[in-house]
Amino acid sequence: MNKIKKVLIPCAGLGTRFLPSTKSLPKEMFPIIDKPNLQYIVEEATKSGINDIGIIVSEAKPIIVNHFSRDEKLEDLLLKANKQKEKELIEAIGSMAKITFIYQKEPLGLGHAILQGEEFINGEDFAIMLGDDLIINYDDPSLPALKQLVDAYDKTSSSILGVQEVPLSNVSKYGIVDIKDDVSPLMEVKKTIEKPSLEEAPSLYAVLGRYVLTNNIFSYLKKVKKGKNGEIGLTEAIDMLLKDNKVYAYRFEGKRYDIGSKAGYVEAFIDLALSRDDLKGEISQYIKSLKL
Ligand code: G1P
Repeated sequence: MNKIKKVLIPCAGLGTRFLPSTKSLPKEMFPIIDKPNLQYIVEEATKSGINDIGIIVSEAKPIIVNHFSRDEKLEDLLLKANKQKEKELIEAIGSMAKITFIYQKEPLGLGHAILQGEEFINGEDFAIMLGDDLIINYDDPSLPALKQLVDAYDKTSSSILGVQEVPLSNVSKYGIVDIKDDVSPLMEVKKTIEKPSLEEAPSLYAVLGRYVLTNNIFSYLKKVKKGKNGEIGLTEAIDMLLKDNKVYAYRFEGKRYDIGSKAGYVEAFIDLALSRDDLKGEISQYIKSLKL
């Protein structure tokens, strides 16, 4: 049994990159084939042994709450229509984890979103998962990215940042870590810097949406200097934390899709279709027929 029991999943962003779709549908609810993105993330948490989940939402997104709540009316209708398998599928969503919805009233940055979860976390060390990063460990589905981090936490009792190398041209999109020695997969972090320029980037290791943090991160989030528009940065608070406590980067195994970008979203669709027995044949034939 892992020691980390709770995770926060911030979902209160505006999703401006996907307008006009995000006018009515939060990007976390975009389907990848037949499942909303957020459900893949919640399933990664439960496969990692974490069943106590805090989803941070804005009031404008009741659809997220609806999706993860039991819908007995729909279950009844499916049963009457002799759709037992579908009924079980729907029922499972409402009972796969203990989900608490936490409201973020203003979009004041990732750090601010995490601060809203302090009461829910209740003094424990905890995990964070960002919905823009879909990570699939095709080689070992029983060991998702978050599980690799919570295992590393169990060994170190320290904060763990999930990282992978990104191309130099992409460093300015991410939180980048400076490490003491490149002894992958577990490396001590010297510094974290949010969205550095190419010249400033101390390495190619980017923090890709999976964290395990010690509870004292909340006190740094309260102290950190606010950025533009009054936003509170998580990376900036982690950089303060590591001056007082050991923080590690863990180079996790798994393919990561930036589904906050249009190209990344399409890539996830293609790969997941090709990984499914019910779609692989048809889709690979279609791709071949394109003669790219
Ligand atoms: C956020 C974090 C950044 C991290 C990235 C991963 O940035 O602030 O440190 O590397 O997620 O996807 P955002 O993509 O929200 O701008």
